Amino acid sequence: MPSDGVMVDATIGQGGHSLLLGKTLGPEAVIVGLDIDTNAVRRAQINLKELSCKVILIHSNFSQVSEQLHQKGIEKVDLILADLGVSSAQLADSEFGLSFQTNMPLDMRIDKRLKHTAADIVNKTDEKSLADLIYGYGQDRASRRIARFIVRRREIEPITTTGQLAEIVCKAFGKTQRGRRSRIHPATRTFQALRIAVNDELENLRKLLVSAPDLLRKNGYIAVISFHSLEDRLVKSDFRQNEKSGIYKIVTKKPIVPTPEEIEENRRARSAKLRIAQKQ
Ligand SMILES: C[S@@+](CC[C@H](N)C(=O)[O-])C[C@H]1O[C@@H](n2cnc3c(N)ncnc32)[C@H](O)[C@@H]1O
Repeated sequence: MPSDGVMVDATIGQGGHSLLLGKTLGPEAVIVGLDIDTNAVRRAQINLKELSCKVILIHSNFSQVSEQLHQKGIEKVDLILADLGVSSAQLADSEFGLSFQTNMPLDMRIDKRLKHTAADIVNKTDEKSLADLIYGYGQDRASRRIARFIVRRREIEPITTTGQLAEIVCKAFGKTQRGRRSRIHPATRTFQALRIAVNDELENLRKLLVSAPDLLRKNGYIAVISFHSLEDRLVKSDFRQNEKSGIYKIVTKKPIVPTPEEIEENRRARSAKLRIAQKQ
């Protein structure tokens, strides 16, 4: 990225990536940071204060990136970076209701402007659709059993906390092989599925990927870090299609994954995959 370039950090978070990259940029450069979490935008504002380049932070979904840039009078950019999913701070914050490790209200909306919470889905969706959702977005082969257990429980009382839901999923697994032997918590996939559904994560990613080619300047880059195979598959197939059409050149033939040392330092990074493409 040129030192006077324009970069979009589509998931600004605490501003960690932008701070690192921003230190290499001159005063002519611009970083546009987006996030659906207002707290993240506020924190990034503080964390990026020391940068000499211009920083524009916007509370927005990255699915709206073209409109947001257009409103700021920016037509072309040199880099689009997206580090998908949620931050450790969001996982730990009961306001978001994302964690099965700690008991919290079952919310999962990162953007509080959204109407439907995970509790709405869990309490109102019919059993078959719930099973399909857990299978489709969580890739959990026990989806039907989990959905059955959820529906049985909600007939007795509404499911309003992450603790209740985690307990129901654990009961659904009972003494099955995965209940006993899996290295991941039995509720991991159900929670992933609900989070994807509540925040419409795959559709938003699709919109970002569709917007990118028009926004990137020739030789500009798009770099996406994904954390599960549904996201990674979307990125991989988008880059491949655009390479076939001569729009992108794929820079990472295989995704870049963290080293064992990086995983040791940050366990949540273990499933991260970075793919990069260059606009032709
Ligand atoms: C893994 S964190 C990013 C961390 C960031 N790279 C850093 O260095 O601090 C993901 C961030 O993306 C945000 N996010 C998730 N989906 C989004 C979307 N569709 N549009 C904008 N931001 C989104 C989350 O709110 C969260 O702050």
